[in-house]
Amino acid sequence: MARVTCASLQARKEAGEKITLLTAYDYPTAKLIDESEIDAILVGDSVGMAVMGRADTLSVTIGDMVRHTRMVSRAAQRALVISDMPFLSYQVSTEEAVRNAGRLIAEGGAHAVKLEGPATQFGAVIAALLRAGIPVMGHAGLTPQSIHKFGGFKVQGRGSAGRASVLEGARGLEEAGCFAVVLECIPADLAGEITQTLSIPTIGIGAGPACDGQVLVLHDILGWGATRFSKTFHDVRGGIAQAIDAYTREVRQGDFPAKEHCYK
Ligand code: KIV
Repeated sequence: MARVTCASLQARKEAGEKITLLTAYDYPTAKLIDESEIDAILVGDSVGMAVMGRADTLSVTIGDMVRHTRMVSRAAQRALVISDMPFLSYQVSTEEAVRNAGRLIAEGGAHAVKLEGPATQFGAVIAALLRAGIPVMGHAGLTPQSIHKFGGFKVQGRGSAGRASVLEGARGLEEAGCFAVVLECIPADLAGEITQTLSIPTIGIGAGPACDGQVLVLHDILGWGATRFSKTFHDVRGGIAQAIDAYTREVRQGDFPAKEHCYK
């Protein structure tokens, strides 16, 4: 099956077809997603919260992202792999940003990177990444690497100044050359307006149904840590807990390992 590309996502927007993304951080999960019809896998810095048990994404390092991206890209034969640039991997200097994004591509095997924040701040970084041949996805609205500035994980884009700021921010990311933009945790009607205004795809998370596509954290759809805007599509937590209990019981009772689990 042909590889999904940034151009295929653009074609989906133009055809009015919804785009689907899910996060993955490891090989077996990425393999399952790659065998589905999901368009792209986001190796999100949400790995810090979903897998590492941290309260936010701020302590995730470029080394963490390279390692998890490598696991995912090894499995992804069809889906586009987008890797998050973690906190402080692109804010310090343009040169460091290019080097770090280059690691996600060259060592991690990603096809594109995502960074958070407006082009007024990161326009030069985005331009440098594009010059290096690295496609960039933008991220507007609630950008979790700035939670301390926002005072927590709060809805953005409310009130006329807030709306204008998110709309202008998204527009700026398109003008800077991003191939798509994630809209996180903003009012649904604002996401609709941005989607109408932009010619690149908008990918929503907590931004309502009008976006060109949706992204969710896989752990959230599996009931492993739901956020308000997510939904448990299948609760695997209960099933895993049952398997752990059954294993413990069988070992204690001497039922496992049985004859068929032993070597001669
Ligand atoms: O890190 C992540 O998973 C993300 C999504 C929530 C968009 O950035």
